[in-house]
Amino acid sequence: MKGQAHAPHRHDSALKHVTGQALYIDDIAEPPSTLHAALVSSPLASGRLRRLDLAPVTASPGVVAAFAAGDIPGHNNVAGPGKNEPLFAEERVEYLGQPLGIVVAHSLDAARAAAEHAVIDVEPTEAILDVATALARQSYVQAPSTVLRGDPDAAMKSAPHRITAEFSVGGQEHFYLEGQVAFALPGEDGDLVVHSSTQHPTEVQHVCAELLGYDFNRVTTVVRRLGGGFGGKESNASWIAGAAALAAAKTGRPVKLRLPRETDMLTTGKRHGFDYRYTVGFDDQGRVLALDAVLAADAGWSLDLTPGVVARAVTHVDNAYWLPHVRIVGYACRTNRQSNTAFRGFGGPQGVLVMEDAIDRIAHRLGRDANALRALNFYREGGDETPYGQTVDENHLPRCWAEARQMGEWDRRRAEVDAFNEANPVLKRGLGLFPLKFGISFNLPHMNQAGALVHVYTDGSIRLNHGGTEMGQGLFIKVAQVVAEVFKVDIDRIRPSATSTAEVPNTSPTAASTGSDLNGWAAWEAANTIKQRMVAFAAEHFGVAPADIAFADGTVRIAKPGSNQVLSFGELARLCWLGRVSLSATGYYKTPKIHWDGAAMRGRPFFYFSFGAAMAEVAIDTLTGESRVLRADLVQDCGASLNPAIDLGQIEGGFVQGQGWLTCEELWWDGQGRLRTIGPSTYKIPGSRDVPAAFNVRLLDNAPSREATIFRSKAVGEPPLLLATAVWTALKDAIAAATGRKTAVRLDAPATPERVLAAIERARTAAR
Ligand code: MTE
Ligand code: MOS
Repeated sequence: MKGQAHAPHRHDSALKHVTGQALYIDDIAEPPSTLHAALVSSPLASGRLRRLDLAPVTASPGVVAAFAAGDIPGHNNVAGPGKNEPLFAEERVEYLGQPLGIVVAHSLDAARAAAEHAVIDVEPTEAILDVATALARQSYVQAPSTVLRGDPDAAMKSAPHRITAEFSVGGQEHFYLEGQVAFALPGEDGDLVVHSSTQHPTEVQHVCAELLGYDFNRVTTVVRRLGGGFGGKESNASWIAGAAALAAAKTGRPVKLRLPRETDMLTTGKRHGFDYRYTVGFDDQGRVLALDAVLAADAGWSLDLTPGVVARAVTHVDNAYWLPHVRIVGYACRTNRQSNTAFRGFGGPQGVLVMEDAIDRIAHRLGRDANALRALNFYREGGDETPYGQTVDENHLPRCWAEARQMGEWDRRRAEVDAFNEANPVLKRGLGLFPLKFGISFNLPHMNQAGALVHVYTDGSIRLNHGGTEMGQGLFIKVAQVVAEVFKVDIDRIRPSATSTAEVPNTSPTAASTGSDLNGWAAWEAANTIKQRMVAFAAEHFGVAPADIAFADGTVRIAKPGSNQVLSFGELARLCWLGRVSLSATGYYKTPKIHWDGAAMRGRPFFYFSFGAAMAEVAIDTLTGESRVLRADLVQDCGASLNPAIDLGQIEGGFVQGQGWLTCEELWWDGQGRLRTIGPSTYKIPGSRDVPAAFNVRLLDNAPSREATIFRSKAVGEPPLLLATAVWTALKDAIAAATGRKTAVRLDAPATPERVLAAIERARTAAR
């Protein structure tokens, strides 16, 4: 048996996923008294709630009860301490779809039908429905965040060249396959067990308790798996669970709240759309001398996770590039829309677009090759600091860049694409190359901690629990591999178990790609504690030195002069039990070295950076604006990958999800602020045919993390999504080819056919 730590094990639930045997919350057997819930929600985007009459709802067939803000015994707040986000609106409604109440009935159909009968009287007030209006009115959810280094004003003034540009990018719906769902079961004294499809079990516990006025110890959150989260179930799952918990506590019966897709899309937050305006100063060689950038995020109606998203956006504007003088201001615009939230990359994807756009424009202005300028502006090996003061260590940019170029055969294909474009007046092709640097850790240092609980049973089977949640990303198998590696046993001996606030308390969300970094180490600590106890016992029992005891291949070897003894791992576990040795331990880990001053926006927010590079080829139809990604070549730094099979899947999936964000996924609100794209018929996520026909993915080899990460691996959850930026760059290249390369191309995203056509039209007009 080979080592477990870097083995390409398949996902522990892979077969269950594809055969439909994996159990999700809606599959849990319902006690006969279970009630089903539906939400009553606001018909307007902004206004005063004059009257909410739920009597007609309660009188509807099959209904047991209905509750609104006034029925909440504790605090009507789902956003944690210091914030104020009501579960149910009180005096004001802030967006169209905002929950006003909940109805519970004997059947799901009865609950959903009854919710329609609420009498809602809202006196409309003027709604802010876009970022531009919010900026003009200084409507913010928090004060602007600024990253500043050097003297950008003076450097800009003295720069030989300057370019000012604007563009925008849309938000993104998570479109997890399992919608938001929670199942709350009351027990003795009204204590609750809440099954929640959440990335953040501890927050669900806290929110349910706060709403009910309970101590935290009366609520247990349990999460076996999520059918996808992507950031959409980091904070939003809490209020859904909170609503179910309220109804369960009030009725004393189990309550399940499962949102239909339309309600899910109408009520929950999405990726933040951004508007950008920047000025870049540079020299004759194309070296960037100064950047002055404004990023304005659509926060939606409340704070939610916007502070973190804006912080990550402004700390990722630099991406791969050394910017000597820089000012980056991030605005968090308050609009009357869904409260935008975490989404894979958490503001990073929005941040890195700025420099990619800037470099394309500089290249056009100077008549130089954009890729040469990218490389020219890279952080140098060793010592360069980011604008927020973190040293860029272990810089794999040049390697990733060279490998992606080589994999994608840039030089040959550049000539090929140019020849194609020469010969074809209607279809045009484009190429894009993108370098990536992404910071790993939560920006808030205190969130970078994790716990684990490991039990070894007397047959040598092992039960593993930790604070991380499994949402398809393969966290459970990776952490199981860590434990198998410590005990040197087969992976099948480890049983992962549902995440539970009763087993590991006070946890952070599974987010910021930190799941395996944090929980892997915590589990290692727990397992190693037990192992050391087993070694100490065996040494005494067999009368040897601890160094004479070796765990390998599911066995334990006791080296004695003349006569080696070999026991199975299970036999030693049983001996330990007979010898009264505890075979259960907790483990705890906190990320070292990180610190962050949120007011000054300076520090070392990230334990390390992960790097990557991508090359993409696209084709556009200049008559219809349709586009296609023909080929992608990706290189991603995963350190010494814990599981290359899982990481490959994360890279492929992340890239295609990023491709969707930048091309086909468009959120569209009407003039009243009603989101009209609330299902798969109008909101288009990439399908199997959108996956690049030629799709080459490579993990950067021989790149063990220089920091003490778990078995020298690196996080992989989010960074590959950003690699899709190469698609955006390639689309601009194709548009430039279609318009004679006379002007720099502005391409707002998502680059739907309409926007591609508009970009072509704009470039043609500018050229005239
Ligand atoms: N992969 C799958 N299959 N499903 C998901 O919901 N979420 C992504 C990423 N990969 C997600 C996924 C996001 S947003 C994050 S932050 C990480 O997984 C979280 O898990 P990790 O920290 O264990 O990588
Ligand atoms: Mo991921 S956006 O950090 O949940």
